[in-house]
Amino acid sequence: MADAIEAARLGEKAGVDAITVSAYHDANRGALHSESNIPHVPNRMVSNAAAIKHSLSIPVIASGRIEPDSAEKHIASGQYDFFGMGRKILADPDLPNKLQAGTAADIRPCIYCYCCVSQIYVSKQIKCAVNPEAGFEKERELITSDCPRHVAVVGGGPAGMEVARRLSLRGFKVSLIESGKRLGGTLPFASIAYEPNEKLLKWLRRQVEQSTVEIHINTEATVDTLRRMNFDEVIIATGAQRSMPEGIPGSDRDFVFSGEEMRALVLSESHPGLKRKTNAFTRLMVKAGALTGATSIPELVRQASKVWLPLGKTVIIIGSELVGLELAEFLAQRGRTVTVMDESSDVGKGLYLVRRMRLLEELNLLGVMLIRKANNIVIENHKVSYTNSRGQVRSLKTDHVIVAKGASGDTSLAEAFKEAGFTTHTIGDCDGISYIEGAMESAAELAASL
Ligand SMILES: Cc1cc2nc3c(=O)[nH]c(=O)nc-3n(C[C@H](O)[C@H](O)[C@H](O)COP(=O)(O)OP(=O)(O)OC[C@H]3O[C@@H](n4cnc5c(N)ncnc54)[C@H](O)[C@@H]3O)c2cc1C
Ligand SMILES: Cc1cc2nc3c(=O)[nH]c(=O)nc-3n(C[C@H](O)[C@H](O)[C@H](O)COP(=O)(O)O)c2cc1C
Ligand code: SF4
Repeated sequence: MADAIEAARLGEKAGVDAITVSAYHDANRGALHSESNIPHVPNRMVSNAAAIKHSLSIPVIASGRIEPDSAEKHIASGQYDFFGMGRKILADPDLPNKLQAGTAADIRPCIYCYCCVSQIYVSKQIKCAVNPEAGFEKERELITSDCPRHVAVVGGGPAGMEVARRLSLRGFKVSLIESGKRLGGTLPFASIAYEPNEKLLKWLRRQVEQSTVEIHINTEATVDTLRRMNFDEVIIATGAQRSMPEGIPGSDRDFVFSGEEMRALVLSESHPGLKRKTNAFTRLMVKAGALTGATSIPELVRQASKVWLPLGKTVIIIGSELVGLELAEFLAQRGRTVTVMDESSDVGKGLYLVRRMRLLEELNLLGVMLIRKANNIVIENHKVSYTNSRGQVRSLKTDHVIVAKGASGDTSLAEAFKEAGFTTHTIGDCDGISYIEGAMESAAELAASL
């Protein structure tokens, strides 16, 4: 800071109009790529900006994960004069206009996924996971349609909500059909595992609810039900299937949960597999969560799970892609001793480079053991055996096992609609896991093409 203040003073003397405060980092440390100029920690560089401001008389501009309402307070208390934004403007270029218009709740939020900045590391074009128009402003522009049709969107996850919202803005008549109790799809579960996702969930729900989209919740779409409703076209956005993958001996034991079972447990949904795997108290808590609606609010679940979680002290997660690693962090932060194992040596698939580097370092600090190249995984009685990369057989005791792998696309419903003669489109995870970015992008591409 002493050098930075001195450099800023030299600038002032030389006649510059203002100083913008940013930072750089030791590029050899993975986590630091999200700790300096594009920080993960909110207000990371505010104290630096304030120190420079107090040494100069020209205006100082701060930046780095500063929310507009925080900036109001910082500026009012004289810590700096202006603030700059990078990611939030990529996520919603209309942010300043919406603030001015008093519609802050409609600002599309950044989810701190690091897709944008990671593109640069692999020499690819800029893009934003929540704003499919960033970098594709012409191709995906929302233009009023000259032949609007009546479209059914099946599935109320991010892909379904985004395509419904976009088509309604283009003038289509849209019916959004969701089998669950509320809109969101897998996003509420993803918001419990990674808190910044919750803002997108709230934004998408709000945009759909205040649009002309007709919402049908608690409604299972079948060929028969949709035939009666007279649609011109059907869009299938029913997500992935996360049932127990085949080929892991012992995966039917009662202390082993599949991805679907974990989701049902956390969100108080019913699942046939859970009855045998949970005790009466857990079932009561899950029921209470559903009845009070508490489990429909990801932030509440995140807080409540710090006190109570129906999982023992040690947990082994099989699967080291995005979902496995996010769950590992979530559980380790709640005092569980967590091991992640996978046949693959390539951990963190689905995470963008900059976030992956940070998460791997955080998992290490939390004491999570990562076992790569674990072959012949067998689940025995509260024990998991595997063959390590040196060909040695090893085993670890555990209270619970979560199988966070084997999720795959599922176009069976789309095939049924096609066979029945409907003009059918597919988007999002039902075409193969493509995460939030893929859900939003495929929705925007389809909405622009219809
Ligand atoms: C624990 C966890 C953490 C995650 N974290 C992240 C993350 O940090 N970043 C990220 O990018 N991704 C994350 N993901 C993945 C992300 O949530 C999904 O990729 C995304 O939600 C896919 O969106 P979708 O709209 O295609 O499908 P979904 O969100 O799965 O929605 C599909 C919807 O279709 C409904 N449906 C299915 N069949 C029917 C039918 N016949 N009739 C009516 N409705 C039907 C379902 O009820 C569901 O609501 C995470 C996933 C999990 C499980
Ligand atoms: C896609 C992207 C690329 C960036 N590249 C650089 C860079 O090469 N050097 C740098 O000093 N800052 C870089 N930044 C940081 C921005 O200049 C700015 O300081 C930062 O985005 C402000 O924080 P915010 O994104 O939380 O608003 C980048 C930011 C983004 C979003
Ligand atoms: S890509 Fe992700 S981190 Fe970058 S601006 Fe968009 S939502 Fe934010």
